[in-house]
Amino acid sequence: MKILAFESTCDETAVAVVEDGRHILTDQIFSQAQLHAVYGGVVPEIASRCHVESISLLAQRAIEAAGITRAEIDAVAVSYAPGLIGAVLVGVNFAKAAALSLGVPLIPVHHIRGHIAANYLAYPELEPPFLCLAISGGNTILVDVRSYTDMKILGATRDDAAGECFDKTARVLGLPYPGGKPIDELSRGGDDSKYVFPLAHVAGHPYDMSFSGLKTAVINLVHNAEQKGEEIDRAALAASFTKAVSDSLVPRTVAAARELGYGKVVVAGGVAANSRIRADFQKAAEKEGFQLYIPPLKLCGDNGAMIGAQGYYEFLAGHTAGSDLNAYATMEL
Ligand code: KG4
Repeated sequence: MKILAFESTCDETAVAVVEDGRHILTDQIFSQAQLHAVYGGVVPEIASRCHVESISLLAQRAIEAAGITRAEIDAVAVSYAPGLIGAVLVGVNFAKAAALSLGVPLIPVHHIRGHIAANYLAYPELEPPFLCLAISGGNTILVDVRSYTDMKILGATRDDAAGECFDKTARVLGLPYPGGKPIDELSRGGDDSKYVFPLAHVAGHPYDMSFSGLKTAVINLVHNAEQKGEEIDRAALAASFTKAVSDSLVPRTVAAARELGYGKVVVAGGVAANSRIRADFQKAAEKEGFQLYIPPLKLCGDNGAMIGAQGYYEFLAGHTAGSDLNAYATMEL
């Protein structure tokens, strides 16, 4: 089954063709990051307008690059929530028109379910049930993935997402947006014990997380140093900050895997590209003896293939939509 899949929830316009949920025939991505960099973050209206400009061309390119005819497309999948509402609306409306004109089913896909499904593309043997930590620019959640379409949230951030925290830390250090990769690069070789940051715990909710205190601590440290004219060890700051994020994520995930008795742990989302977090999960997997799945870097960030992958399993579960499908800024997993 060949699915034409659309992703436009934030600042990537992406169109892919995926076969049977597991094989990428093409994955076309246009990142708008450079357009937003000058503002230090995504400007919603610019994002929406840029999706409008690029989505038709990308769809055309995807069909050509997949080497298929329009008649071979069996269904259309689209990321319909959560995200920047104007941005999501562009993808949803285009996908509805595509499904209507092709005469094929329309499959709505939750963006975070898509991130989780990126792992099905990278690991053919991976099947639920498993535990998943989804860490992106807008979400940080620990999920019990009971089946391809039955998921339960065990814990989530109470405030900022981990990716947001990377982006704000980068901003205060004068690094470009999106800040995750520049912080990752700066942190290599830095002394991760030089600065000590607070690790938040939510009383009575061991799997919930909080990153706003960490974000504020970094901002205050930088501003105080600037006011006193003190030099900051930038590499050590980036390394110490990343250690704090990783120490919030990895031990919680390990504890949940132990409690639920899972031998498979999956990590997903843009922040899963972080080299320190990947290494810490690898160490934990070796120590605890669980099987670890993290997508290759190109499948960590937003892409259309992950929507096509999850779309396949949503279709098998009978989750299709009518032509009244809408877009949503927030949505339960
Ligand atoms: O999954 P994603 O592409 O978009 C959302 O669905 O939100 O995640 C984007 C986030 C950004 O905050 C970006 O800074 C972060 O992922 N990111 C990283 C790295 N690469 C991207 N964070 C830490 N380390 C990285 N290497």
